[in-house]
Amino acid sequence: MRGVAQKRLSPEVWAYVEGGAGEERTLEENRAAFHRWCLRPRQLAGIRTVDLRTTLLGTAVSSPVYVSPTAYQGLVHPTAEAGTARGAGAAGVLAMFSTLSSLSLEAIAAAAPSGPKWFQLYLQPEFQTTQELIERAEKAGYTALVLTVDAPVLGPRDRQTRDGVAIRSPVPIGNGPRILPPARAPELRNGAYEFPEDATVTWEILGQLREVTSLPLVVKGILTAEDARRAVDAGARAVIVSNHGGRQLDGAMTGLEAVPEVVEAVGAEAEVYMDGGVRRGSDVLTALALGAKAVGIGRPVLWALAAGGGAGVERLLSLLNLELAVSMMLAGRRSLTEIDRGLVASRDD
Ligand SMILES: Cc1cc2nc3c(=O)[nH]c(=O)nc-3n(C[C@H](O)[C@H](O)[C@H](O)COP(=O)(O)O)c2cc1C
Repeated sequence: MRGVAQKRLSPEVWAYVEGGAGEERTLEENRAAFHRWCLRPRQLAGIRTVDLRTTLLGTAVSSPVYVSPTAYQGLVHPTAEAGTARGAGAAGVLAMFSTLSSLSLEAIAAAAPSGPKWFQLYLQPEFQTTQELIERAEKAGYTALVLTVDAPVLGPRDRQTRDGVAIRSPVPIGNGPRILPPARAPELRNGAYEFPEDATVTWEILGQLREVTSLPLVVKGILTAEDARRAVDAGARAVIVSNHGGRQLDGAMTGLEAVPEVVEAVGAEAEVYMDGGVRRGSDVLTALALGAKAVGIGRPVLWALAAGGGAGVERLLSLLNLELAVSMMLAGRRSLTEIDRGLVASRDD
């Protein structure tokens, strides 16, 4: 699907999809981190069926794999987020949709009314605008709010600059002309770099959000035990351990590396998910063995959408689920609850 997508998309859009921040060290490490773990399979477990079903904040899903939020899906396929919603819905998989979607959140929800959907929030300069987005998401049937905290400003996207900025002309945002992406750059003022006021956010924002919504809060973009604790203490019901697909702080640790400390820090108080570099059923197995409850995929969904629209996304998810089921069979685990820390060993030890 990646190969088909690359052929179909312009070099600018391909740079937007594939690129990371700076030298792309973190982007590269997102894959490499999986290679530093190996699996310790148990044989002759007498397995006849493998069950991938689970719940994410109480929502029943067919698999611990979910669709991560990615902006501007209209750049890769005319059906945009509606295609993704239909594909994920058909697969019974949870999908998260970005504030910066090409279609409105209402149109996305209408495309797959029964599919589980969460709304990913980028804070807007005016809290009133943020609140309106949340109210719209509640009304349209999104069942959780995913606050992304690792993008107060956009990371330096060198590849996009090099390959001709993908978003040369402003890409329409389906949620309305007032909705803005994260700011691009600070200004040098009196010798110091000054960031836009709305980039200056603290943990108090979680309390503010909880005052205006009863939707469960998920915090996306956590990489340390310390921040995971702060998020949970401020009322987050789940945290997503993620470096934004290597697109923000180049050199940052990977989600997979951070999962163990985050799981230890939050214990049973919140659910822990991860994303970044998940490409195979065996990757899902590794992340779950380290303590994640679910894993998100970003770029592969865009490849699948570009290659085959909603049907492509459904096919991708069913292939990944099948791989996970076969990997579990080969590892001697019949359900997600049987995936334990003993299933993985570090190659570096
Ligand atoms: C093209 C693209 C757009 C993205 N847009 C968003 C976004 O709008 N909001 C967000 O929280 N994360 C965004 N992300 C990050 C993803 O949610 C996710 O963290 C990341 O893609 C996971 O890594 P993977 O692509 O290796 O699977 C984006 C990622 C990509 C590749």
